[in-house]
Amino acid sequence: MATALVDSFGRTHRDLRISVTDRCNFRCTYCMPEEGMAWVPRHEVLSFEEIERVARVCVERFGFDSIRVTGGEPTMRANLPVLVAKLAALGVDLSMTTNGSTLRALAGPLRAAGLGRVNISLDSLRRDRFAVLTRRDHLAAVLDGIDAALDAGFSPVKLNVVCMQGVNDDEVIDFATFGRERGVEVRFIELMPLDADHAWTPVQVVPGERVIATIADAYPLRALTRGSDPAELFEYLDGRGRVGAIPSVTTPFCSRCDRVRLTAEGKLRNCLFAIDETDLRAVLRDGGSDEVVAAAIGASVAGKGPGHQIGALSFVQPPRTMSQIGG
Ligand code: 5AD
Ligand code: SF4
Repeated sequence: MATALVDSFGRTHRDLRISVTDRCNFRCTYCMPEEGMAWVPRHEVLSFEEIERVARVCVERFGFDSIRVTGGEPTMRANLPVLVAKLAALGVDLSMTTNGSTLRALAGPLRAAGLGRVNISLDSLRRDRFAVLTRRDHLAAVLDGIDAALDAGFSPVKLNVVCMQGVNDDEVIDFATFGRERGVEVRFIELMPLDADHAWTPVQVVPGERVIATIADAYPLRALTRGSDPAELFEYLDGRGRVGAIPSVTTPFCSRCDRVRLTAEGKLRNCLFAIDETDLRAVLRDGGSDEVVAAAIGASVAGKGPGHQIGALSFVQPPRTMSQIGG
């Protein structure tokens, strides 16, 4: 029998985000330095069996019903479909966040292995700008990857766009149009202080509300009721699908957060902005029973704070970047 994993603020946890590698073939300017990071050595990265074990404990003991595979770029992990098949066997909503550049080759095998949904990250539809933002001239591969995901039958395919003041905020309508034409759900995310060089300032944040107002001027929208999803979702009145905003900075989702995160090297994080982590790999490699693994997960969630305090004087940016945490 599963027991709900409730924290001291009454939030029930049911969503596990697993970073399967910290490596990435891109170098997004807000995430990584040009030369990349010091990658976690192979023997320190959790094996598929170790990942599956943590996931199984979360599902069996705590009733988790959602697992998201993240990175770095998750498709940089060799034999990813093998892991996906193991996780799919747990019978949860299984999804992946990817930069999309490898999907022409991998969308089919991942779908066949049981992956349910994909979210593709893309911050510019302009080749030159894309190349500056990711330090890679791979826009064509990502656009082809989006088509590949649709061809493979993933539904819905969602697009994550980090919207930044003076960087790509002039592409809001282009992205909305792209989403309407391709049948993909575009979600605009506010930039969070998780960058490698700690250069984030609130000035770079484009409030989700402003993004939605801009779109609504061009394409009339109707708000959908907010569910357990951090996105504020809207429907185009002409029936051409949905669009959303994830106002992670201006309207944090923290009070309804149901997520825990496992890093590639097996650290459990109860928050994107957590400073403290639980070394689950040590528990696994010390031969701990499922009971002990579950107790470690329970203790981590029990110690979860109310939420991030971005903007407060006391806010401390975690040492990890998004690529080392998982989205
Ligand atoms: N703020 C907001 N989103 C970010 N991402 C990476 N770094 C940040 C940040 N600092 C996004 C990526 C991807 C997802 C995994 O997280 O663009 O969509
Ligand atoms: Fe890679 Fe994602 Fe970081 Fe970009 S944001 S460098 S795609 S991990």
